[in-house]
Amino acid sequence: MSDIFKMLVALTYNVKKEEEKVRKIDTSISKYINESILINYPERIDDTYAEWDSMETIEAIKNALEEYNNNVVLIEADENAYIKIRNTKPNIVFNVAEGFYGASRESQIPSILEMLNIPYTGSDSITIGICHDKSRCKEILSYYRIPNPDFLIVNGKFENQVKKFPKFVKPLHEGSSKGIYNSSVVNNEIELKREVERIKEIYKQPALIEDFIKGKEFTVAMLGNGENVKVLPIIEINLDEVPSDFNKIYSYEVKWFFDTRENKLDIFKCPAEVDDVTYKAIEKVAIETFQKLRLRDWARIDIRLDVNNIPNVIEVNPLPGILPDPEDNSCFPKAARVAGMNYNQMINAVLEEAKKRYNLI
Ligand SMILES: Nc1ncnc2c1ncn2[C@@H]1O[C@H](COP(=O)(O)OP(=O)(O)OP(=O)(O)O)[C@@H](O)[C@H]1O
Ligand SMILES: [Mg+2]
Repeated sequence: MSDIFKMLVALTYNVKKEEEKVRKIDTSISKYINESILINYPERIDDTYAEWDSMETIEAIKNALEEYNNNVVLIEADENAYIKIRNTKPNIVFNVAEGFYGASRESQIPSILEMLNIPYTGSDSITIGICHDKSRCKEILSYYRIPNPDFLIVNGKFENQVKKFPKFVKPLHEGSSKGIYNSSVVNNEIELKREVERIKEIYKQPALIEDFIKGKEFTVAMLGNGENVKVLPIIEINLDEVPSDFNKIYSYEVKWFFDTRENKLDIFKCPAEVDDVTYKAIEKVAIETFQKLRLRDWARIDIRLDVNNIPNVIEVNPLPGILPDPEDNSCFPKAARVAGMNYNQMINAVLEEAKKRYNLI
């Protein structure tokens, strides 16, 4: 096909820099981390850039878009992004940028694109911003009676506000399991205080204290829009693979220390091995969440079953991680593969959803 029919797609991203990967361990973090991890994985302790992509992922997305007859320009989502996008004038943007600073950092590229009236993949700046603030997201879910763990936000003194344990403590606005360690499950007031302090000291933000939902965990990859959104095969997180002396959560330790290319955990079951009723209940909650939050094109929703087997939404990812190498356990590409889509088809399926929304096909 001649160049005339090629779309100009800009790929907006943030990338982990080599020099940042080898940064010295921040001593304030190390005092909170299990000693064996400090000794065995010193280079992975610092989670500052955990949300950002590697150049390998960016190149894989670029190749996928090129394979489907697009011209692709890479635009790093840094302080010059606005000018670069304005000068490039792409027909559409494939956005995976997690952003630099602030709780609403994932909204910044979508906002720029809205201002410049340029079509782009994924959710708009409002929805992305809301999902990145876990409590704002939960407030909307609760309004629509979509089950999610009861919660409390603390940013200072919180004496006697928490009566029942165990609880789960996490930063209010992070992703990629940043700040979520084995110690996030707390069984008493002392552990709780230590975690709130850790989040304040290291992540400089309020802590979200939630009921601990201890049943099976799933993650649901979705593609599409509104009434036509599709659920890809549900992944069950096989928490039996978590070492026995660790809590059954999909923590930073599990994702980045215990499950490595050299030492792979059998952490995903896909499709999930649950009875039909439970499988359908999970799909229903995921679809409702997608629609009520007005997610667009793609998303991944984390869910756990409570003691009554009711699927509770743990967290919503409008920009799901998409590591290209099947050896790296990455949920969205895994679910796509089980649905019969390879990596390049998956990327282009997201682009097609966006093009349909903007009537570009
Ligand atoms: N309230 C809770 N009850 C039980 N487990 C929880 C709860 N909240 C989080 N978890 C556990 O911690 C993990 C990470 O939490 P969460 O998904 O909120 O973090 P994240 O950093 O946003 O994740 P992602 O890497 O998917 O972006 C979950 O996969 C789950 O295992
Ligand atoms: Mg999650």
